[in-house]
Amino acid sequence: MRMNKGDYRPDEGFAKAADDADPLREFRQRFHFPNSPVGGDPIYFTGNSLGLQPKTARKYIEQELDDWAFLAVEGHFRAKHPWLPYHEFLTKQMARIVGAKPIETVVMNSLTVNLHLMMVSFYRPEGERRKIVIERGAFPSDQYAVQSQLKAHATWATAARSSSFSWPASPQDVSGQHEPPEGGTQNLIELTPREGETTLRTEDIVETIERHGSEIALVMLGGVNYYTGQAFDMRAITEAGHRVGATVGFDLAHAAGNLELNLHDWDVDFAVWCSYKYLNSGPGGVAGAFVHERHAEAFDLPRFAGWWGHDKETRFLMGPEFHPMRGAEGWQISNPPIFQMAALRASLEIFDEAGMPALRAKSEALTGYLEYLLSQIGDDRISVITPSDPAQRGCQLSIRVKNSDRKLFEALTEQGVFVDWREPDVIRAAPVPLYNSFTDVHRFAGILRECLTSR
Ligand SMILES: Cc1ncc(COP(=O)(O)O)c(C=O)c1O
Repeated sequence: MRMNKGDYRPDEGFAKAADDADPLREFRQRFHFPNSPVGGDPIYFTGNSLGLQPKTARKYIEQELDDWAFLAVEGHFRAKHPWLPYHEFLTKQMARIVGAKPIETVVMNSLTVNLHLMMVSFYRPEGERRKIVIERGAFPSDQYAVQSQLKAHATWATAARSSSFSWPASPQDVSGQHEPPEGGTQNLIELTPREGETTLRTEDIVETIERHGSEIALVMLGGVNYYTGQAFDMRAITEAGHRVGATVGFDLAHAAGNLELNLHDWDVDFAVWCSYKYLNSGPGGVAGAFVHERHAEAFDLPRFAGWWGHDKETRFLMGPEFHPMRGAEGWQISNPPIFQMAALRASLEIFDEAGMPALRAKSEALTGYLEYLLSQIGDDRISVITPSDPAQRGCQLSIRVKNSDRKLFEALTEQGVFVDWREPDVIRAAPVPLYNSFTDVHRFAGILRECLTSR
């Protein structure tokens, strides 16, 4: 389903006709929607935070509960989907979602845990090459993870040299363009938008990478920024990072199941993502990790090991020495959380049926329609900080409402609208192509207009 800006019209009839023409419209019926305080269908635009429950998830989890009840430990081998290799049942579908080969993909742990595991292996400071490039305003967990890795690596390096070490007293100005960072560490390079702009320009990201060149050990950005909704040009960033000899990784929390990704072809070194947002695996759902095929046999890389990463042919010989599996699976630590994986299987099957190209096409049309209707409200307090170029965004629009406060968000919530509020004045709204409709978008714009008129 493709639409151009000129196709949109403000009347409800347009939304209804677009829904009728939507080849993915039946998928909405496959999900449970929460109740709306005003009755009827809610407008659920928070799939960027927690995706809806696939109706099949209960059956999939119940199957595992039954197998546990009736087979107990034997379930590892005799369950309908044996638990021992359970994570493997998810690999191919997850690989298709991120544009990877199965050998490059594994479902395991939680997102921030995976980020740490990847940085232990792929942040390799050496000589003058010690710096990590991130976005200023990256999701806090990413900032904490990166900062703590910098400290841990510095401590390990110091221990290795057995010389005295002192942590830098104040951070130097390492920002991409302008003001010095308020916090952070000496080896952190924080990309900042230009004065008066809210999102980063690809040319500035590339320029910063080139300027710091041989000082950079790792470039680690989000695929889509959680606050602004900006999608980065991951191919260009990976190429720039590799040109200066750095490794490049992405946090795809807001990109997996949202954008069409081609991690293998883009030559990304590693990536991590959660599955409870666009991938609908439920609260705290199990996460994913990608390690490029060229590192599949990089057994000499340092890694934090656990028995599930050990060669599965000899794992149960219980030997004292760790022999990692080839590929991304070699980064596993623990045996897989079956109930979480069962819920994720339910969702990945739906993704496989719908297919990322069709989902992305509808997503561009839906989000473009939302942007159009916001402009039709004609209230100059509203601005959209997410880029208007569809190639630079996914589902989400971050809507800035000047001089507003949480009361606006609360008024929307009372009308059955699920969006979220980010201080100081931003509403994040994400129409998700699997289960949102053009009518949802039309109703949302109407309710927002009403709430603004009464303020
Ligand atoms: C971009 C990003 N990074 C990291 C996290 C933290 O994820 P987790 O709690 O699963 O480690 C989130 C959670 O929303 C996120 O959006």
